[in-house]
Amino acid sequence: MEHVWLRGVAEQFGIDGGLRQLGGEYDLNFRGQTSEGDVIVKAMRPQGEPALVDQQCAAISHALAADPTLPLPRLLPAAGNRFWQNVADAQGQQRMVWVQRAFKGIPLGEAGPQPPAVLAELGALTARLDLALRDFKVTAAPDAAKWDLTEAGWIKPHLDVLEGSRRALVAGIIAAFEAIKPVLDKLPRQTIHNDLNDFNILVEPRLGEPARISGLIDFGDMTNGPRVCEIAIAAAYAILDHETPDTALAAFVAGYHVVSPLSAEEIGLIWPLVRMRLAVSVVNSTIEAKGRPDDPYVTISQAPAWRLLENPAIDGELMGARLRNACGLPVTDAAGRIASWIAAQRGSFAPVLGRALDGLPVGSLGVAEATIPQNPFELRADEARNLGTGLGITSEWWLGQYGEPRLVYTDKAFRKGRWLASNRRTIHMAVDVFAPAGEPVRAPLAGKVALAENRTGHLDYGGVVILEHRTPAGDVFHTLYGHLAADGAAQLKQGQEIAAGEAFAKLGSAEENGGWEPHLHFQLALTLDGMGHDWPGVADPDDWALWQAVCPNPAALLNLPDDVVAYQAIDEVALLAERKARFGANLKLSYKRPVTFLRGWRHHLFDAMGRPYLDAYNNVPHVGHAHPRIRKVAMDQLARMNSNTRYLHPAPMGLAERLTAKLPEELEVCFFVNSGSEANELALRLARAASGGYDIVTPDHGYHGNTTGAIDISAYKFNKPNMGGRKPWVQLIDVADDYRGRFRRDDADRALHYARQVDGALAAIAARGGKVAGFIAETFPSVGGQIIPPPGYLAAVYERIRAAGGICIADEVQTGLGRLGEYYFGFEQQNVRPDIVVLGKPLGNGHPIGAVITTRAIAERFAEGPEYFSTFGGSNLSCRIASEVLDIVEEEELSANAKEMGDKLLAGMRELAKDYPCVGDVRGIGLFLGLELVTDRETLAPATDAASHVMNRLRDMRILVGREGPADNILKIRPPLTVGGDDVEMILDRLRICLREVETAR
Ligand SMILES: Cc1ncc(COP(=O)(O)O)c(C=O)c1O
Repeated sequence: MEHVWLRGVAEQFGIDGGLRQLGGEYDLNFRGQTSEGDVIVKAMRPQGEPALVDQQCAAISHALAADPTLPLPRLLPAAGNRFWQNVADAQGQQRMVWVQRAFKGIPLGEAGPQPPAVLAELGALTARLDLALRDFKVTAAPDAAKWDLTEAGWIKPHLDVLEGSRRALVAGIIAAFEAIKPVLDKLPRQTIHNDLNDFNILVEPRLGEPARISGLIDFGDMTNGPRVCEIAIAAAYAILDHETPDTALAAFVAGYHVVSPLSAEEIGLIWPLVRMRLAVSVVNSTIEAKGRPDDPYVTISQAPAWRLLENPAIDGELMGARLRNACGLPVTDAAGRIASWIAAQRGSFAPVLGRALDGLPVGSLGVAEATIPQNPFELRADEARNLGTGLGITSEWWLGQYGEPRLVYTDKAFRKGRWLASNRRTIHMAVDVFAPAGEPVRAPLAGKVALAENRTGHLDYGGVVILEHRTPAGDVFHTLYGHLAADGAAQLKQGQEIAAGEAFAKLGSAEENGGWEPHLHFQLALTLDGMGHDWPGVADPDDWALWQAVCPNPAALLNLPDDVVAYQAIDEVALLAERKARFGANLKLSYKRPVTFLRGWRHHLFDAMGRPYLDAYNNVPHVGHAHPRIRKVAMDQLARMNSNTRYLHPAPMGLAERLTAKLPEELEVCFFVNSGSEANELALRLARAASGGYDIVTPDHGYHGNTTGAIDISAYKFNKPNMGGRKPWVQLIDVADDYRGRFRRDDADRALHYARQVDGALAAIAARGGKVAGFIAETFPSVGGQIIPPPGYLAAVYERIRAAGGICIADEVQTGLGRLGEYYFGFEQQNVRPDIVVLGKPLGNGHPIGAVITTRAIAERFAEGPEYFSTFGGSNLSCRIASEVLDIVEEEELSANAKEMGDKLLAGMRELAKDYPCVGDVRGIGLFLGLELVTDRETLAPATDAASHVMNRLRDMRILVGREGPADNILKIRPPLTVGGDDVEMILDRLRICLREVETAR
């Protein structure tokens, strides 16, 4: 043991194996092991104050007596009734030494930002701690009063240590603090921990579930103060570097409030106090750094606090309403009164457009209902101007709904993050009244003009007026009128009185209303907090609970019942229940939290609230979801006819021509079917007919489809419980996995070693008196784990199979048609020419069509049997769609894109592998990629739980990927071929967060 002076303590507490020093400059901390678990030995600074240590010990004991399951340090008694003893250190100085049981977990500050559930739990624990300390009396105060948040004003005279804009920022924070100080000073006080910073909170990160708060430590800064200071201090650090600090803070405060209800007054103080605490932190460290101008540590340690203070995405004005809403209180004291008053007056308001609105048609632009806009990232001008026509509404007068998630808000201003799949504002917070341009707009009740202006941006309001009203009880609220004619709005003066029923503006035409079909956007706001100058008219679905309270349904002001204009969203809970009732349990849903998708566009999908997701998983929409060209040919053919291959038609011939042009010349005869499974069934029949044999050789873990015959050759299925196992006519060889298989990358002859297993398989067939029909393999095994066999593998296999009279079948369902970038088919990479090629999934871009292409000789042997016919296979519609898919791959240069994006992803994932040891292997070609997770790079033990964690967390972060491999530990990335550079960046950025979570949970 290095610290010999602690030997006595170590012996006394049964510590074996020495003491490992932890952080701490003056007070020293050590970790040691005992037979009953790890302990922390704390050696206080020389000449420490015994009363302070006694007080900490007493407070912990007190709190644990009040709430025994609080995660507080368990102290080990020293001698007498004390928890500490004096020990002389190496310099002969006396230190108080005390010992406590160690916690599992790591400091929150190391674990990184936590999801709302963990912050809520932390809030709840903070509340429990405050309750447990409520009647503990602090007598010895810490020397550093600078951390007493009620006295934080001490930083004011030191503002000049900060530069320019930061000085002004902190001055503003101090002013806000001074404004709340009188309220703060009047709040009741109690003993509080006073320093629940992110290194005094321990968390135990876990895979597949939120981290657990495992410890609250270091009671050395306890003081007597208002509990809002406790909350503000803990929250300030817990939300640092959070992607949405505002919702994180709301989760924390709501967690506290559930355990120990806060008053509206207290809630109102929290955000100014959070900011003040961080201001104290940066000012204090700047002062301390004065003597060390070149010390980079100061800048580094201050950075997260500055990032939070300077975060432009945080709406401080809205924070009070947000926190009140999270705690289940009305957004302002008056909100409830105003809403009740308006509801009671329903029917007596002046008609806003001069006529009754009941009975008008109600149109829906909802994600579930409308296909406007066709491209959810770009509303076309003609779509915006003809919304009603687009919905099939013939009347000029109609109503648009409140609370409706819409995809029409495509401008960047509605997006909240960097990527196309970032949060975006979709939910309409107003009622729309569509009516002819020029219709006079009237005030439903008396008010005065709070704002009148003309906003000229595309898809903005055009002319917009906000009126301020007052209820008889004196409560103020506002109404907004958007999409008005420019001139009328411009003539109004701020403060101008408008009488009930007075026409104060006119509806604008598309030329002046932001480009929309003429309509009134009519919105109510119960508070102006957070409305800012912009007055958001649509809300982020993740923030809807809050905005619904700020801007409730204004139907009453239009003399309409609420439900006539209230959007009814799909009930996802009912949908799930219905699915469980109607479908078999082994028809699996993806993700722990299933997701409903209603729209798609290229490589993005949209859920029921219009949230976009990056689809990095689906290979069926090969050229992208909802491709307009696919839609166009499908509609065109459906308008003509759709029939089978028993009649002549140019479409199947056109497809056959296109496919064979891509294949080696001897592959010249096509069969069209309606799935990959049906294609493989047919491939087996062809091989058997041509070879005269029956037996099949195939690699382990393969998948070829869900039909009886396809399952017989799919070890991935037949080796599962209750599947009957391998049929005697099937011979399995190892999958040529050179990462974890029998022969690995360090073996130059691994391809040959794997291929030689065919010899054994053929011998087994001979031994049972059989004859080989052929070999079937996914060219690059997919469910087996996104495996790229070593070069030369298939050539050596084919040689052996052919020598035995067998047929070589390449299942290109996953790998064909350009996904691999430089290779149109996977077998090209292996330099072989199969006898039969099987195609499926991507061929119809979601429309069911598969294909089998073979040689003339094989087809002729097959034709000696009965007629071949597949009812749906090769219908005119299917063939036109498939031809269009092939043309799009070509014309949009999607193979080149697959190569470029695939290379970027591979390079990025290899960088991640350098930082995160859980990444065992990164592999793939083009957009057929795998990321294999392991718990140990030596043993390659599969990290199955980690892969599940990452897949589900990516879903939370709006990215879809899959999971494959015999141990389900390989992340499968296989997006539509349209993904772009930004999407790749998003995948890598989010993957990094998930991998970090995996590492901290080890
Ligand atoms: C390689 C391979 N072959 C065949 C199939 C079966 O195709 P389908 O589901 O269209 O019947 C699949 C499906 O996942 C596959 O991945």
